[in-house]
Amino acid sequence: MSTALPVNDSKTIIFEKWEETAKNKLGKGAFDYVQSGSGGEETLQKNVQAFKEWDIIPRVLTNVETRDLTTSLFEKKLAVPFFLAPVGFQTVVHPEGELASARAASSLSVPYIASTVSSFSLEEIGEASVGSPRYFQLYWPNDDEVATSFVKRAEAAGYDAIVVTVDTTVLGWRERDLQNQYFPMQTGAGIANFVNDPVFQEKYNRDGLLDTNELINAIRKILLNQSITWEKLGWLKQQTRLPIILKGILHKDDAQLAIEHGIDGIIVSNHGGRQLDGVRSTLAALPSIVEVINGRISVLFDSGVRRGTDIIKALALGADAVLIGRPFVYGLVDGENGVREVLQNLVADLDTSLALTGKTSVKDIDCSIVERVY
Ligand code: FNR
Repeated sequence: MSTALPVNDSKTIIFEKWEETAKNKLGKGAFDYVQSGSGGEETLQKNVQAFKEWDIIPRVLTNVETRDLTTSLFEKKLAVPFFLAPVGFQTVVHPEGELASARAASSLSVPYIASTVSSFSLEEIGEASVGSPRYFQLYWPNDDEVATSFVKRAEAAGYDAIVVTVDTTVLGWRERDLQNQYFPMQTGAGIANFVNDPVFQEKYNRDGLLDTNELINAIRKILLNQSITWEKLGWLKQQTRLPIILKGILHKDDAQLAIEHGIDGIIVSNHGGRQLDGVRSTLAALPSIVEVINGRISVLFDSGVRRGTDIIKALALGADAVLIGRPFVYGLVDGENGVREVLQNLVADLDTSLALTGKTSVKDIDCSIVERVY
């Protein structure tokens, strides 16, 4: 029987307290980078608000003594139905950056998604999370040879899937980042995957003479690809045997196209309100997408998940698993232990919420236990 109490000697339980701690500990450039959304931050707020628009209607007297938080995706068992979302430039939050968050995740068997713009190479992050499920997130570079090289490296380093972020053809209009001259970019914190890439080095830095600023400029030129279309996904599929997941789907017709193009999974995401402002909250977008997908491929979900009950609601509306962004990044201000604390609490919160919902397995959560608030 699992306990309903937090399993650690936590100091900080509340999401908002972590956010406040991060605000106090980080400089303005770093904190704004993590916390802010794009435009007037309409979508950032909507993502969180959307969870309040659904009620959980729990069942009672169902014997919840034995509970199971595991699930499976792409034929692999996951200890919990949530991932650490891909988050770039993590050394602006803590010097150990992605190594700390990957170690914390792996110590609890929480699956991890490594960003293209990580502060450590995908191989180093892979080593920090050996034995635990991990995916590699691809910002599809505007250079096919570099794109192939990234995917092959991820395969060789033991990653289980490729997550292609499709909502970032250009960076969102992030007003606070713009005001801070995009602080994380200036630090050189997100270039490790490029400088450790043999193809990138051969093509863009053959003599190894570029300094950090020149490297940042070279990377900026190829980082984002504005010309990819659905047709190009066939080419990517040929480069790898790993499942391909598209991150950033909000329209049900794109969910349909994902199926038609042989994609293995999608992530219903608006990038945590950091890309196009004014778009739908992801929870509002989820039901119609789940209906189109109709169990044919995996549906993951992110943006606005803060607590165990948020996870329950997303699973009830048809997500197979969710991703957590800002909550773990705030924990990272205290390094590996801070991330672990956030994750342990989330696991305990989810377990508590599962029991009180009257269910014994996250796999049994379905739409019978939620209703829209009118
Ligand atoms: C992100 N996100 C993101 N997504 C991605 O595909 N590649 C990336 O490198 C990043 N980097 C990144 C940095 C920071 C600081 C944040 C907060 C987010 C988006 C992320 O994967 C996820 O979609 C959102 O964070 C989910 O929303 P919440 O949980 O933060 O509300």
